[in-house]
Amino acid sequence: MRHNSPATALAQGTGQAVAKAILLGEHTVVHGTPAIALPLPALPVRAVARPTTGSGIAASGSFGFLAGAAAPATPTPSGPRVAVEEALRRWGIEAETVEVVVYCDIPLARGLGSSAACAGAAVRAVADLYGRELDPAALYDLVQCGEQVAHGRASGIDASAVLADGPIRFHAGTARPIDVGMDAALVIADTGVSGSTQQAVADVRRRLAADPRAARRLLDRAAELIDAGAGALSAGQTRTLGATMLEFQDLLGELGVSTPHIDTLVAAALAAGAHGAKLTGAGLGGCVLALTDTDAAPSVSTALRRAGAVQTWTVRTAGLRAGALSLSASTPERGIPS
Ligand code: MEV
Repeated sequence: MRHNSPATALAQGTGQAVAKAILLGEHTVVHGTPAIALPLPALPVRAVARPTTGSGIAASGSFGFLAGAAAPATPTPSGPRVAVEEALRRWGIEAETVEVVVYCDIPLARGLGSSAACAGAAVRAVADLYGRELDPAALYDLVQCGEQVAHGRASGIDASAVLADGPIRFHAGTARPIDVGMDAALVIADTGVSGSTQQAVADVRRRLAADPRAARRLLDRAAELIDAGAGALSAGQTRTLGATMLEFQDLLGELGVSTPHIDTLVAAALAAGAHGAKLTGAGLGGCVLALTDTDAAPSVSTALRRAGAVQTWTVRTAGLRAGALSLSASTPERGIPS
């Protein structure tokens, strides 16, 4: 183990985190239901942190930022910067300044957890730089500090899923591994439209507050669907899980976070033989997730692209069970193995 004195740093530190997809429970999880999510290791984020005197970003990645004492003040610091500055404070080295360069394979603002993954990779890189031990709870907590900035009111599902080893059931701030007894495929389709999580979360909160009794009914129904979906995933009941996803999509439509483009992609996936499909993440753009038999995945993927998806990725659920996720991409130029 390396020396842990306040400002002893290596020349550089590195850290990694991955994308996530929410299978069921986005938005309602902010209001107390569980949610089911899975990490996507084939869509990674890598961060490199170096000590600096604050003179600027030397290297180029997807983006870079300065954090700490000599970093320029900004009215709206990014989630990753907030997470890193909170880490420096907690470690008692807030007099330090670091340069963080982030290499991100996750499309930004598409519901795949890019903000949480970038924060997770950045905090891990800075911990590595200063030789700090990070237990999972401390890391989650720091990423959540950044997520509160990115989401307005973050449930913690993204922070948990981008740091998880496999699929999780998340409830009230606690993530537990969930069994996957299914060999099917999940096709993720990018609408090509950036959605603002903060706006979507605020819109949903307003809508629920406007009619508390209807909100209670909707949240109770959501919780039932999430439990049914978790059971179906464990028991290998593909049709039941697909039907549950579709019902959840209807509910997300009622919450106002679906769009005509998302509805078109959902319909295209179903017409091509998917068992179910729904938006994943905050909506208002972002990505659609379709559940299909593995042999139908290529035609579902093609149908989604014909209906306007800008790129698709396919995840085998059998890989989720083994903890070694396999993912193939329709657009290998992003550097994802196909
Ligand atoms: C975003 O990926 C998931 C939301 O439920 C927000 C959150 O849980 O923090 C929309």
